[in-house]
Amino acid sequence: MDKEMRVAEHPVLGEASFGKEVVIYFDGRPVPALEGEPVAAALLAAGIRAFRTTEKRREPRGVFCAIGRCTDCMMIVDGRPNTRTCVTPVRAGMRVETQHGLVGEVGL
Ligand code: FES
Repeated sequence: MDKEMRVAEHPVLGEASFGKEVVIYFDGRPVPALEGEPVAAALLAAGIRAFRTTEKRREPRGVFCAIGRCTDCMMIVDGRPNTRTCVTPVRAGMRVETQHGLVGEVGL
């Protein structure tokens, strides 16, 4: 696994501690990840930028705020739609799917 795609040392947060290497599944495809890191971080490290599409125009969306305050990173995680992947920690074997549009009311 390429840990160069992760922030190992941060000027404010200090040195990162990485979890063990696991596998999650993006649209059925295995993706290497580090346990406990945000799902979005694992996907970005794997070169995946489009997490969902917009309802009307089907335009791709990915990470925008990265702090759980918008809807751009929402995906279906283990069958649950509207999951903000930038603040959802990785667990081994998670199933992450591209979401088309948003489902129901989305709290901001
Ligand atoms: S990128 Fe905004 S909530 Fe995740």
